[in-house]
Amino acid sequence: MEYIISQKSSSLNGNIKVPGDKSISHRALIIASMCIGTSKIDGLLESEDVFSTMSALKSLGVKIKSNDNSYFVEGVGICGFKSPNNFIDLGNSGTGIRLLLGATMGSNIIVNFKGDDSLSKRPMERVLSPLRRMGANIISSNEGKLPISIEGPKEVLPINYTSRISSAQIKSSVLLSGLSSSGKTIFTEPNESRNHTEKMLSKFGAKISSKILENGSNVIELEGRPLLVSKDISVPSDPSSASFPIVAAIITPNSKIEIHNVMINQARNGLFETLQEMGAKLKISNEKKVNNEVIATINAEYSKLKGTSVPSERAPRMIDEYPILSMAAACAEGRTIMNGISELRVKESDRIKIVSNGLNKVGIKTIEKPDSLEIFSGEIIGGCSIDSELDHRIAMSFLILGLVSNKPIKVLRSSTIKTSFPNFFEIMLNLGSKLVKG
Ligand code: S3P
Repeated sequence: MEYIISQKSSSLNGNIKVPGDKSISHRALIIASMCIGTSKIDGLLESEDVFSTMSALKSLGVKIKSNDNSYFVEGVGICGFKSPNNFIDLGNSGTGIRLLLGATMGSNIIVNFKGDDSLSKRPMERVLSPLRRMGANIISSNEGKLPISIEGPKEVLPINYTSRISSAQIKSSVLLSGLSSSGKTIFTEPNESRNHTEKMLSKFGAKISSKILENGSNVIELEGRPLLVSKDISVPSDPSSASFPIVAAIITPNSKIEIHNVMINQARNGLFETLQEMGAKLKISNEKKVNNEVIATINAEYSKLKGTSVPSERAPRMIDEYPILSMAAACAEGRTIMNGISELRVKESDRIKIVSNGLNKVGIKTIEKPDSLEIFSGEIIGGCSIDSELDHRIAMSFLILGLVSNKPIKVLRSSTIKTSFPNFFEIMLNLGSKLVKG
């Protein structure tokens, strides 16, 4: 079984750029496919997850070409996808599958979706339920999980849907389906989740608005059947990927790094806020706007951290960052508690369980509850193997912890990192971390 071993490193230093944002890359490909004309995408994340979405779109009849790191997508219109000949395999990608279930609704075709072992265990009912109300005919022999067959209706019905969960994937699936309905789609979520779909749809010409109510809930309204016209997109660097070298620099003595062009979106910056509360020397500067999103330079250096309490309301703004925050928490003085994180149980792995068990293995005490995780500082002993469970963020998080543990940490099935951060190994190596591939 392939693996990476991570060993105690003296310091991390350098200037880096991390690859394009995964969420924006999926949306750029899907929304460009649903408009009129050819869109050019620069800075697309060239990772397995994004390639799964790209090949799914090609199977649905979209022409996508690449030249010199630019991708050219010939849109087929909101209702123009063609019936694919075979199953569409989304691999490990939750964003790919959930967004495409919605996006294909208006084309009145039958699509059969499948995925890898991790994706086939993840709940899809959360998107199937609103899509059924919009007129989809869905067959799933696996209790609402993949494989799934979906047939869009002749007329997609507009809905007013209130989601129990703050999830950008559910919201985006409903909005992409709502594009082909003749009326107004209204979607409400308890707290604002990442808003890239809303921003990108607006850039492509959709009439879409959102407002945060006094109780914190977020309401989005979208007019159906807009004229979406092709645009050029430049994908900014992924803050979720940046969080790995950032935390690595913060916990490794004598480190100092700079990362350029990182997307700073207030619906994604919960980790940076939390690290600053913990005492991290983390500076965000040079902010500028690129295609409706803000990018900035981030400087991070070794810091003495103290434990903190992360409130539930912050979870949607840092939903992918709890595994790496947990590694920082293990190095912080005192106790850290993360509340309201039950959604982590249905990510690429059960991240509460896997992080908790992994930390126990390296010598750190934790208390795991259904929707919280408490981490106590202690000596990071290491000298053990952690299985990635096909979860890229678990693999990268424990490799970062290995940089400060007494004995090495071996991460098994580490190649899952390719789903989101294909050059993680090289970037971390260049910064000075001691990683060895096996
Ligand atoms: C994503 C949304 C998040 C996140 C995932 C990417 C997206 O999930 O965990 O990695 O691109 O929409 P939810 O907001 O659906 O929980």
